[in-house]
Amino acid sequence: MEKITVRDIIKMKGSKKIVMITAYDYPTAKIVDSAGVDIILVGDSLAMTILGYPTTHGVRLRDMLRHTEAVARAKPRALIVGDMPFGSYESSSSRAVKSAIAFVRAGAESVKLEGGSEYTDRVKAIVNAGIPVMGHIGLTPQRYLKLGGYRPRGRIIEEARQLLLDAEALQEAGVFSIVIEFTAAEVAKLLTRRLSIPTICIGSGPDCDGQVLVIHDIIGLSEHTPPFAKRYVDLRKVIYDAISEYAREVRDGVFPGPEHTIVRLKEQVPLEEILGGREE
Ligand code: KIV
Repeated sequence: MEKITVRDIIKMKGSKKIVMITAYDYPTAKIVDSAGVDIILVGDSLAMTILGYPTTHGVRLRDMLRHTEAVARAKPRALIVGDMPFGSYESSSSRAVKSAIAFVRAGAESVKLEGGSEYTDRVKAIVNAGIPVMGHIGLTPQRYLKLGGYRPRGRIIEEARQLLLDAEALQEAGVFSIVIEFTAAEVAKLLTRRLSIPTICIGSGPDCDGQVLVIHDIIGLSEHTPPFAKRYVDLRKVIYDAISEYAREVRDGVFPGPEHTIVRLKEQVPLEEILGGREE
């Protein structure tokens, strides 16, 4: 099957729902790709899911690049989006372009950045450098200090209007799609109708062109799963049970059994011969 490109994603609007999920390493990228997702996001949620930081502010560009490289080594059919972390694009357009180029060198095929009208110059600069950009509006976790926490967005008319302005400004600046996070479903639906590019929602209802979730939330590895995410399997329990059984078997002398004891002396010699006359 052919590699999915940004053009394919744009063409999916109105015809086929877009499926996006995060992945941060080689084996997970292989699995999600073979399950047929359209987009793999190397999200800055890496900060919490993998690196144990309390917020996305902890993750550095170098961390994001290293994990993007690991995902790219899986050579997925899905489009790889690298998530620009806090501090990698805010200060200037040239900083933003430099960071985006580093992502492409690490194997990303596009980048995502959080923010609305205030960052359209960054978006234009990156797109002019030949790198596709995905926008991200609604709840933008990198701005949680300014937003006063992780509140839902677009529930009051001024916020909804601002979201519409932001979405239109980003589209005008050249983004190929927009993530809408934790936003009133009616507003996400309206934006999806108004924009010619695909909307990809997380916690913003069903009427978007696609959906994205953090993989750890879906597979039950997150410490706190947001209420809008659906957990399809409890891997924490699966792993816990497997490791507990392993520990029990080691302690009881059950593991390794004969089938796992695979290295043997080539010659059947008595052990006294190895001791060479020394006491056992
Ligand atoms: O970093 C991330 O996982 C994200 C998604 C929540 C869209 O940005």
